Amino acid sequence: MSGNPTQLVLLGSGAREHALATKLRQDGATVHVLPGNAGIPGSVPHISATDFPAIRNFCQEQGAKLIVVGPEAPLAAGVADYFLNSDIRVFGPRRQAATLESSKVWSKDFMRRHGIATARAWSYRSDQFSEAHAQAEELNGQVVVKYDGLAAGKGVYVCNSVAEAGHALAELRDLHEGWFSFLLEEKLSGPEVSLIGITDGREIKLLAPAQDHKQLLAGDEGPNTGGMGAYCPVPFLDDNWLAAIRTDIIDPTLRGLQAEPFGFTGFLYFGVMLTPQGPKLLEYNVRLGDPEAEVILPALESSLLDLITAALDGNLAQSMVCQRPGAFVGLVLASGGYPAAQFPTGFRIHGLGEQGAGTQIFMGGVKAGETPGELLTAGGRVAVLVSQGPDLPTAVQLAYAEAGRVYFQDKYVRSDIGQRPTPQLETSAY
Ligand code: AMP
Ligand code: GLY
Repeated sequence: MSGNPTQLVLLGSGAREHALATKLRQDGATVHVLPGNAGIPGSVPHISATDFPAIRNFCQEQGAKLIVVGPEAPLAAGVADYFLNSDIRVFGPRRQAATLESSKVWSKDFMRRHGIATARAWSYRSDQFSEAHAQAEELNGQVVVKYDGLAAGKGVYVCNSVAEAGHALAELRDLHEGWFSFLLEEKLSGPEVSLIGITDGREIKLLAPAQDHKQLLAGDEGPNTGGMGAYCPVPFLDDNWLAAIRTDIIDPTLRGLQAEPFGFTGFLYFGVMLTPQGPKLLEYNVRLGDPEAEVILPALESSLLDLITAALDGNLAQSMVCQRPGAFVGLVLASGGYPAAQFPTGFRIHGLGEQGAGTQIFMGGVKAGETPGELLTAGGRVAVLVSQGPDLPTAVQLAYAEAGRVYFQDKYVRSDIGQRPTPQLETSAY
């Protein structure tokens, strides 16, 4: 392929895609976001991210030869398979490889087949609840119950007692009809990190390690959300831990991907827990994390477009990944009431475009207002505001000051993003 493709199509509609579009434009591409949202320039709202014939027509009209995929849904629906024998390249794995994210049972089997460090687990079908109960009792209720499929954030129950495990299993049985599978895992403890790489299935180039904040409330309390904020890099993830993650998780994953009958080109996300027994893989995602992407991409100095092109060409080994210095903190500006099923939206957002140097804002759950340029809230996670600083505390301070200048009714921002106490990690314990 000669040079970089200049026209590219990006699939998705959230703040992660706004961050991706911003970075890819800085790298020199013309980016069309399908469907995007009212806050992302270059959005094409009438084409959905899973309408493959419409996406193909749009690519042909624009002369776009590259599709970059933000969310999981188009990958699970087979976008990479759809364009396989065409002159349009998709940066994202094929449907079968996307099962690494969409099926927890399949993904755990992959981890076991390839000797990847992970929690012990038992898989059951929906007619085996009594066996699952017995196993949960044997582990004194210190288990995690995981529904095997996409469950809109309701699929994972972290339990502290036999009674809690019983409730989790009962809820699972009540929520889902017909045949399904689920996992029971031993509960591990330790801080979690998100490591995301760009891979062609053989080489992987890691981007900055990040930490998400999944719970709604400060102190990691309250219900799980799609993420309330993130930061990168992670100061306590030292070279020893990184080397152990490479040896115990990433290298065997790459060997596994080569041994299986499917390839993998795209972003690969490792959700890792740093336990006293070493790093353990909790999950794969086959895409960039959200809100991790919103801090990782501004932190990336190298051209993302070049890295993506190198992965598609099979030239990743020669690529370098350079990070910008300092720390990056992303705060999710959420609608009050999120993550409940319903909460008020439609409020005008003030203070956009007034961010100072070192701060960017990526728009997610928004829609156009009546006057040109006006944006209204339209979802739970409205925007992600990202600030850079020479160190984490300075970046945190700047981000909160800037977030205070963006206003909409019922705005909620979790108060302790990037401020967890430094964990005491015993790197010599394993
Ligand atoms: P998952 O979707 O599998 O990553 O699980 C969602 C969240 O549940 C993780 O980010 C962890 O906070 C928690 N979790 C998952 N598996 C375990 C485990 N084996 N032990 C402790 N916590 C877990
Ligand atoms: N931030 C976690 C995820 O994107 O799944």
